[in-house]
Amino acid sequence: MKSWISLLIVLLLWRQTFTKNIKNNLNNDEKILYSSSNAGLLKLLEMEESFMENIKLYTNKLAEKVQNLKAYLFSVDYKKNRSPEEGLEYVSNPLTAFSLVRRTHEDLPKWHQWFQEEMKTSESDTRIDELVANVPDSQDFLEAALGIQRIERIYDLRIDDLAEGRLQDKQYNIRFTFRDRLAMGNLMFKQRDFLAAAKWYRMATKIESEENNDILNKILGDPMPHLKRQYIKAVFVYASVLSGDSQSNEEAFNEVEKKIADIDEQVIDELLTKFKKPESDIELEKQLYQTQRSYTDFEKGCRGQFRQKTRLTCSYNFTTTPFLQLAPLKMEEINRNPYIVMYHDVLYDSEIKALKGQSHGLRNGFADAKNGTMIRDIVARHGWWSEKSPIRKRINQRIIDMTGLNISLTENIQIANYGLGTYFKPHFDYTSDGYVTADTDILGDRLVTVLFYASDVPQGGATVFPEVKASIFPRKGSAIWWFNLYRNGTDDTRSKHSVCPVIKGDRWTLTMWINLFPQMFIAPCLI
Ligand SMILES: *[C@@H]1O[C@H](CO)[C@@H](O)[C@H](O)[C@H]1NC(C)=O
Ligand SMILES: *[C@@H]1O[C@H](CO)[C@@H](O)[C@H](O)[C@H]1NC(C)=O
Ligand SMILES: *[C@@H]1O[C@H](CO)[C@@H](O)[C@H](O)[C@H]1NC(C)=O
Ligand SMILES: *[C@@H]1O[C@H](CO)[C@@H](O)[C@H](O)[C@H]1NC(C)=O
Repeated sequence: MKSWISLLIVLLLWRQTFTKNIKNNLNNDEKILYSSSNAGLLKLLEMEESFMENIKLYTNKLAEKVQNLKAYLFSVDYKKNRSPEEGLEYVSNPLTAFSLVRRTHEDLPKWHQWFQEEMKTSESDTRIDELVANVPDSQDFLEAALGIQRIERIYDLRIDDLAEGRLQDKQYNIRFTFRDRLAMGNLMFKQRDFLAAAKWYRMATKIESEENNDILNKILGDPMPHLKRQYIKAVFVYASVLSGDSQSNEEAFNEVEKKIADIDEQVIDELLTKFKKPESDIELEKQLYQTQRSYTDFEKGCRGQFRQKTRLTCSYNFTTTPFLQLAPLKMEEINRNPYIVMYHDVLYDSEIKALKGQSHGLRNGFADAKNGTMIRDIVARHGWWSEKSPIRKRINQRIIDMTGLNISLTENIQIANYGLGTYFKPHFDYTSDGYVTADTDILGDRLVTVLFYASDVPQGGATVFPEVKASIFPRKGSAIWWFNLYRNGTDDTRSKHSVCPVIKGDRWTLTMWINLFPQMFIAPCLI
């Protein structure tokens, strides 16, 4: 019995081997047979064709990948060997800057995932992983959106214009892409600003499809169904509050959320088709843009809407220091009381270059860093320049020439560079507004602020004094200075000032404060 079974097993094993051998043998045999008969040759042809089929399949797959990769490069506006100037130009425009943040935050990780799954290359992966680990996080992304919102609000731009690249009276050759518009809508929706969300969503629906839409949708996801629902929700919430049907945004939102959740795709599509009919779109646009709000003095100042001051002079100052008798400085009065004055050509290009060279370690600055850790408005990136170089000495001398004050003991010079829609809320420089530093303990309060402009700013970026209704637009190489305190040393609230968001450009400034105590020999009445 036992031997029977073992025999059976052996037989089976043998058969398996045998059939394998036969196949091999057959192949071997056929190798010989191919050319010896047309039947054999046809078999060979068949074999080659099936191999080609496989190759073709593989090629198609690769081609699809190449197409996807090309679509990616196209969608990010990738440019080889961008010069530093072109790079700066790119980030100096809010449209491209926002798009950059959005793409790297939203799309890049998705492309990376696709890349990992499809390409499975081992080299250079760690470098890419590192790159991807450093893409902008959601806070960064939100800040970028708030920057765009700030530009829109403060300069009273229409979202329609902004989306199409019309910034004030300038038309740029750049538009917000479909996904950028959608992202702005989503971020505004999250902020519960349903009106702004509706405006952005409406502009998103105006771009039906982008180049390589199908490919992008496959890898990044198709946002259309989401967009339709969100757009309709935003419009309904806004309409419901406007018409008085709902008491508050929140109430309207909850109501609409409930209703929309039950509606199926088809009805949503019908609604959207109705929204998009030209006559209803015009009506919708009118409704969305009907509310006018009043503007603050800060906003008016940013837009350059203050009335021109009269009886101000523009002259050469020969008198502050003996040096000025040889090389007077060009001086322009901004305001008489309190005194605000602008000097021209007091910071040279070589000095600006040196100062930017010092600015690698710039850190985020906060408008109210003095007060806890709540969500704050991020202002510029800034750094402190403490270096005692010949350049610093020359700049110090120029500050003495401009102000006639003693700056032998001062705080460090602050270097600031502003980003996408960043700004500085109206504030005071004196210590009772919260800016107590070790320096001010020793040197006394900040009597005077001296602000150098180290760049031109084509649009926006003014320094505004809302109390005295003065705005100063940056001019490379110029400086302004003003008093923060009265003659008797008490706070002068009229020195309140702020920095408007840059619309287009790259704003660099250098700030120095001149403190009270070292002035007692020069201007004893001050103390
Ligand atoms: C600063 O924070 C405190 C509480 O931490 C608050 O009472 C105060 O109003 C805040 N000041 C400003 C100017 O926001
Ligand atoms: C020059 O500037 C100094 C310092 O501000 C000022 O006291 C003086 O009046 C100015 N001179 C002229 C001619 O404006
Ligand atoms: C300081 O001067 C200002 C303006 O002249 C005046 O309003 C204020 O009352 C003075 N303060 C003190 C403490 O004298
Ligand atoms: C400036 O102030 C410092 C410190 O208070 C003092 O030592 C110096 O003599 C002053 N310079 C002038 C020109 O008054």
